[in-house]
Amino acid sequence: MAGRYAIRPASAADVRDVSAIERAVFSDPWSAHDFAECVSSDVPFLVAEEHGTVAGYVVAHQAADEGEILNLGVATAHRRQGLGRALVEGVVAMLAGRGVRVVYLEVRESNAGARRLYQSLGFGEVARRARYYRRPVEDAVVLRAAIPAPGVSAKL
Ligand SMILES: CC(C)(COP(=O)(O)OP(=O)(O)OC[C@H]1O[C@@H](n2cnc3c(N)ncnc32)[C@H](O)[C@@H]1OP(=O)(O)O)[C@@H](O)C(=O)NCCC(=O)NCCS
Repeated sequence: MAGRYAIRPASAADVRDVSAIERAVFSDPWSAHDFAECVSSDVPFLVAEEHGTVAGYVVAHQAADEGEILNLGVATAHRRQGLGRALVEGVVAMLAGRGVRVVYLEVRESNAGARRLYQSLGFGEVARRARYYRRPVEDAVVLRAAIPAPGVSAKL
């Protein structure tokens, strides 16, 4: 990733920019209210910023030692520069620091780019959810990655 980007926790001031990217990227977007709730509830929520402009974001959730990546988006103009990878790595590290040992996520079956990104980070397919998405209706692929215990060297 180009060094001009910073990955940092999201704040309330980022919600407007994050929501704008979300609306441009997804056909069934989260609302600004959804993102504002994530900021106030202290879930893992990171943004990639370049010179004061938000270029991407990732949101996750934790339940005991399991984590889930709930949302990931990079603005079109900032893609293929490693931001998606840096955001996922950042949120996985954050989850690991909170005691998470395994991370799940769902992705549209047809989303080849995101699936390649997750695969390169050690996520593997564990299940399918039929007709999980709307606009358009599509199956979800469920991916999983284990986080090694502290001191153990392994991918993710
Ligand atoms: C998926 C997404 C987050 C990737 O963001 P990004 O910053 O472009 O990703 P990166 O630059 O970190 O890509 C890392 C690797 O992932 C793979 N990848 C990413 N986008 C890809 C694409 N469109 N086609 C093929 N491979 C792709 C490549 O292997 C890439 O490495 P490379 O550029 O060296 O070939 C971005 O395309 C996006 O926001 N898409 C729309 C929203 C979305 O699908 N979110 C995920 C929902 S689960």
